[in-house]
Amino acid sequence: MGKPTLNDHTILEPLRQRWSPLAFDPKPVPAETLLSLFEAARWSASCFGEQPWRFIVGVKANDLATFEKLASTLVPGNSWASKAPVLILGVAKKTFAHNGSENRFASYDVGQAVGQLTVQAAAADLYLHQMGGFDAAKAQEIFAIPDDFAPQALIALGYLGEAELLGDEGQKARHNNPARARKPLSELVFSEWETPAF
Ligand SMILES: Cc1cc2nc3c(=O)[nH]c(=O)nc-3n(C[C@H](O)[C@H](O)[C@H](O)COP(=O)(O)O)c2cc1C
Repeated sequence: MGKPTLNDHTILEPLRQRWSPLAFDPKPVPAETLLSLFEAARWSASCFGEQPWRFIVGVKANDLATFEKLASTLVPGNSWASKAPVLILGVAKKTFAHNGSENRFASYDVGQAVGQLTVQAAAADLYLHQMGGFDAAKAQEIFAIPDDFAPQALIALGYLGEAELLGDEGQKARHNNPARARKPLSELVFSEWETPAF
C-alpha cells in the first residue's frame, strides 16, 4: 500500500512515496543497502563540516543484542517499532571538534543527514519511521554514549509491511489511515513575516 502525498507542486518520486509506516515486513535489509543509506547520510552538509551525526544500528537478523538494546528504550506507544527489521539511533555531537564550543547546529545537521538517508531509502523501496518516543537517558547509559553526544531520534527501518503484522487494533488503524495533511505553502514561505511569498 501507499499513502497519498497530496503535493500541490511537483516533487521527486522518492519524496512522494515516503511516509512513516507502523508495520514493516520482517524481510531483512541487505547490508549493502544499509551501507548505501549511511553513505547518503555521510555526504550530507554540516556546519563547519563537523559531521556531528553518529548512528547506532541494530540489525535484527544479525545483531539481535544491539537491536534489543535499542528496542528496550522505546516508549510503550512505539512498541510496533520492535517488529521492524532494523532500528537506528541517531546521535548528535554537541560541540565542535575545532574549538570545543557548543555546536548549535548539531541537531539540525543530524536531521538533515537523516533526511538524506530517508530519500536514499525511499529510492530503494525502504521506509523509515522516526521516533522521539524513546528513553534517551537510557540509550545514553546502555550504550555508554559520552556526555558530549546526545541521542536525537530512534528510527525504525524496513520494507513496508501489512497492518495485519501488528498486534494492536489502534496501531493497525494508524498504519492504514490514508490521511496525511500538511500546512499550505502560504503558511510556511514568506516574503515578510507571515506574508506569503507566493
Ligand atoms: C523527530 C520526530 C519524532 C517523531 N516521533 C514519533 C514517535 O515517537 N512516534 C510515532 O509514531 N511517530 C513519530 N514521528 C513520526 C511523525 O508523527 C510523522 O512523520 C508525521 O506524522 C508525518 O507523517 P508522515 O511521515 O507519514 O508524512 C516522529 C517524527 C519525527 C521527525
